[in-house]
Amino acid sequence: MIRRSVLIGTGSVLPKRKVSNAELAEKVDTSDEWIVERTGIRNRHIAGEGETTGTLAIAAAQQALAAAGVDGKDIGLIVLATATPDQTFPATATKVQQAIGANGGIAFDVAAVCSGFLYAISVADSMLRTGMAQRALVIGAETMSRILDWEDRTTCVLFGDGAGAVVLEARDVAEDGPGVIASKLHADGAHGDLLCVDGGPSSTGTVGHLRMKGQEVFRHAVVNLANVLAEVLDAAGIEPKDVDWVVPHQANQRILDATARKFGLPPEKVVVTVDQHANTSAASVPLALDTAVRDGRIKPGQLLVLEAMGGGFTWGACVLRT
Ligand code: ACO
Repeated sequence: MIRRSVLIGTGSVLPKRKVSNAELAEKVDTSDEWIVERTGIRNRHIAGEGETTGTLAIAAAQQALAAAGVDGKDIGLIVLATATPDQTFPATATKVQQAIGANGGIAFDVAAVCSGFLYAISVADSMLRTGMAQRALVIGAETMSRILDWEDRTTCVLFGDGAGAVVLEARDVAEDGPGVIASKLHADGAHGDLLCVDGGPSSTGTVGHLRMKGQEVFRHAVVNLANVLAEVLDAAGIEPKDVDWVVPHQANQRILDATARKFGLPPEKVVVTVDQHANTSAASVPLALDTAVRDGRIKPGQLLVLEAMGGGFTWGACVLRT
């Protein structure tokens, strides 16, 4: 028997307001054709009044708890990945804790931008396996719309808002049983300026806007993701053909295609939701995961690979059995 963090529930939410490419093209100099051809994105959801990273995270967490059949008070650890917290502090995780009635346990935010959910799941898995908690909520939640420069067409068409959550439970399972099998994380601060926000509490005293050199990010993303996929599969002792589903960060259809091709994974094994919600940063992996669980594609006993890359750069991947 081996101690593992087992996935027992998923949930996700998108803000009420859906914005199509055509609607966006009324406000900035772009077109549905350009956006679809370059990115695969067709819609994004934008948080309205009263919707924040915290409210979206709470709704996703409640769904995941219901799916797992777990009460909020039985959650001992909340790790919330976000680059767009409600406030600089307290951590948005503590708002979720209060809302679900898990007060007194551990709750903190993780800042690794688009790969935040991979960092969060790895940290939660380590803490569960060392006995610091029995059950964890791992959340990716963002309101990217609040840090976009809505006059910069090279970035504002690419991002959206949303939240996804999973419940993990520490269990003793057989070697071929369920749970997180391996995680690999990386960062390289040399490329911080290729994808960043031009403000912050300690530098400008402002929130700032997202800035990105898209073509350079694209090139690094494909190389880094293919490398970390090879690394995590090796650590898990499995081959690409053993993988049932790849659940990638949903940034851009062309990054998904190029990474799958480079790694020799058939596109039909890749869960794609980027067309429906654009790049939701840390929320995108759990949004895609929950979608494929709820529509019945992901079934118990399957091998999943989650992967993401984002600002920092940061990137990572995780192999788990459902
Ligand atoms: N609508 C219309 N035209 C546009 C738009 C737009 N929204 N944005 C840029 N253009 C124009 C440019 O001004 C340029 O015009 P020019 O040739 O007259 O100068 C032309 O389109 C081509 O611009 P490029 O930047 O060369 O376009 P490219 O093919 O590289 O596509 C894109 C841009 C989609 C951003 C691409 O580089 C990309 O996907 N990069 C990855 C970035 C990403 O997804 N990051 C997410 C975060 S990191 C991650 O999650 C992995």
